[in-house]
Amino acid sequence: MLRTRIYELLDPSSDGHAARRMRTAGVLVILIGISSVSAGTLAGLAPDARAAAAVVTGIVATLFFFEYLARFWVAPEIPRLQAADEAGSRLRWAFSLEGVIDLLAVIPAVAVASGGARLGAESASVFVLLWVLKLATHAPGIGVIARVFHNERAPLAAVAVFFVVVLFSAATLAHWIEGDRQPEHFGSIPGSLWWVVVTLTTTGYGDVVPQSAAGRMVGAVVMLCGVSVLALLSGILASGFAEEVRRREFVRIWELVARVPFFSEVGAIAIADIVGRLRSRSFPARAMVVRKGAAGDSMFFIVTGEVEVRINGRTKTLRGGDFFGEMAILNRAPRSADVVTATPCTVLVLNVADFYQLAGQQPALIAAIEAEAKRRRAEDDGGGAPPS
Ligand code: CMP
Repeated sequence: MLRTRIYELLDPSSDGHAARRMRTAGVLVILIGISSVSAGTLAGLAPDARAAAAVVTGIVATLFFFEYLARFWVAPEIPRLQAADEAGSRLRWAFSLEGVIDLLAVIPAVAVASGGARLGAESASVFVLLWVLKLATHAPGIGVIARVFHNERAPLAAVAVFFVVVLFSAATLAHWIEGDRQPEHFGSIPGSLWWVVVTLTTTGYGDVVPQSAAGRMVGAVVMLCGVSVLALLSGILASGFAEEVRRREFVRIWELVARVPFFSEVGAIAIADIVGRLRSRSFPARAMVVRKGAAGDSMFFIVTGEVEVRINGRTKTLRGGDFFGEMAILNRAPRSADVVTATPCTVLVLNVADFYQLAGQQPALIAAIEAEAKRRRAEDDGGGAPPS
């Protein structure tokens, strides 16, 4: 169905090749739009260049207008917006944060249509912020960052408390020590806060400097605390980010593995072991995945799409649920055939090191792969079964 296909193209979590290209194109259009709006605000810009920037802005805004219509139309396909009827789903989307941002982003296009390119460019400069937000809705990574802050809220809160304790203790001390010498900067505790914040965040403008020895000692301690706070924050966020990305990847691969019947016999604990070793890859149609004679360092499980195995002048078609690339690993030999995608494909990749580790832990699984490899070898050696 056309609507489902368009939804798959626009879905930010969609893994397909076309959807990825669409996302890249979307981000490019937004960046072009932001650049043209920003360029239009330069004071010394030549009139021709200003007019060109306005036209580009108008085109980008018009593209957003059509994108809005498309997203509105496909809203009933979004699982989380399922409602009793299609109009309900569309309404839910229209009032969601993404829908509102997308709607506001098309206002320059409406202005272009009603008031000419100049008016469009001017109103676009107001909405450039919304185009930046649109960039956020197009980048699935933004959700990860929000999630990391949520997951790590307890350690982040502990660092924030430490920050506040140092902030007010240092401001109080600095006020006591420096208040008489520099009343304009340290005359009150709130007034001293500026110097403490600038020092604690290691910014150090140098506009306010303690003059007494005791004041400088307080400054030194604040600086050390500032470095510790930054180190703690970086550590918490970096490890939280890595953990969240790993968790998401695990869930994504888990869903893909569930679609490969070959793994359906395996129990949940074993699946968890397998999922941790698989990586997903997408290929467009007519891409060479495996080249005959090349070294084999991984095997592939097809999740969606079809590939052609070209061997001895014959062609065999493998599709969702099948696997290939196992013979080179098992025989420790070069690839025995070319494998080319016939349609866009999503595959799960298992590299050779993980293959042998898995062989130790999941002998039944590897035995099934071995049996199929043996059958294929016999088929290839003997001229085998008729081409499919
Ligand atoms: P490999 O030799 O690593 O690379 C080419 C792959 O093509 C091979 O592993 C098999 O997975 C696959 N292949 C080879 N012969 C056949 C066949 N007769 N039927 C299905 N797949 C095959």
